[in-house]
Amino acid sequence: MNWNPRRLPRADDKNVLVTGGNAGIGYFIAEQFAAAGAVVVLGCRDPSKAAVAGAAIRARVPGARIHHMQLDLADLASLQAAVDGMPLDCLDVAVLNAGIAIDDPPRRENTAGHELMLATNHLGHFALTHRLAPLLAAAPAARIVTMGSFAARSERLDLDDLQSTRSYQPKRTYGRSKLAQMIFAFELDRRLRAAGGDLISVLAHPGGALDSLTPARPGVHVRSRASYLRGLAGGLVLQGKDAGAWSAVRAALDPEVVGGQLWGPRVFGLRGQPRLEQPQQHMTDPETARQLWTASVELTGVDPVAAL
Ligand SMILES: NC(=O)c1ccc[n+]([C@@H]2O[C@H](COP(=O)([O-])OP(=O)(O)OC[C@H]3O[C@@H](n4cnc5c(N)ncnc54)[C@H](OP(=O)(O)O)[C@@H]3O)[C@@H](O)[C@H]2O)c1
Repeated sequence: MNWNPRRLPRADDKNVLVTGGNAGIGYFIAEQFAAAGAVVVLGCRDPSKAAVAGAAIRARVPGARIHHMQLDLADLASLQAAVDGMPLDCLDVAVLNAGIAIDDPPRRENTAGHELMLATNHLGHFALTHRLAPLLAAAPAARIVTMGSFAARSERLDLDDLQSTRSYQPKRTYGRSKLAQMIFAFELDRRLRAAGGDLISVLAHPGGALDSLTPARPGVHVRSRASYLRGLAGGLVLQGKDAGAWSAVRAALDPEVVGGQLWGPRVFGLRGQPRLEQPQQHMTDPETARQLWTASVELTGVDPVAAL
């Protein structure tokens, strides 16, 4: 299909949740869905940031239908109440986009004692998928879109030390948390197929998306002339967060997408229009996925597919 990210198919009949929809790539995913007519729920932890993002979207898309879901992925105990507070009776798309990357030591934990990047990026989305399952099952042919990363390419999980307690290196722990998300998303699709039904799990990644190449949005993102000039060289191989949103939006909206696919930018997997990618073997290994799934159920106390 000839896909143009600037000319999306209408999505007026779709309810879409975007985790981390208040900032960065998530904001642009939300804006692009809103422009296509979807009802968009911004899943974010700060209500004032959600309000600012909603206003920025409405300023560009008059009449945009935007809601806020109070969501802190690092707080597993809060997720059911977050989902219960959503003003929807079904969900067509859940974009699992929110994420944190901690650059420096020391290792940090959430209140449950889980390493914070694994907790937010993987465990939070794993448990949220379980909580969202009834709403997804209530929609015809819903999609769960997981935001991966090129950082997962060079990492391997340490299943004996998922929480990076023995050795913590921020960059490696981040890459592993993104790999865990991707392994989960591929395994989720296999389990959904085995269970039957029409809910699918698809993956996307944004390539390399820099703030300095991202257009300004009042209250959400300021781009100074100096940062724009600094980012120009990077623009040869990387892109802005507006374009970083394209792969996830295609994974969610293209009628030709099927479960278990990975979508990423066309040029070296770093920038450009979304295209189908071949996942690496370590992302789709069923035995690693089985062990990660079991560990994630133990850590979160829930199983996403059991709720379907
Ligand atoms: N940018 C890139 O080049 C790149 C490359 C590969 C993959 N990715 C992935 O793309 C996704 C978005 O990245 P980005 O560059 O747009 O990041 P970003 O600008 O830092 O935005 C991250 C978003 O996640 C939210 N978030 C963080 N912790 C949260 C929590 N505990 N609960 C709920 N929301 C939380 C943030 O909310 P607050 O505003 O409240 O902090 C924010 O909305 C991430 O999953 C990232 O791993 C990005």
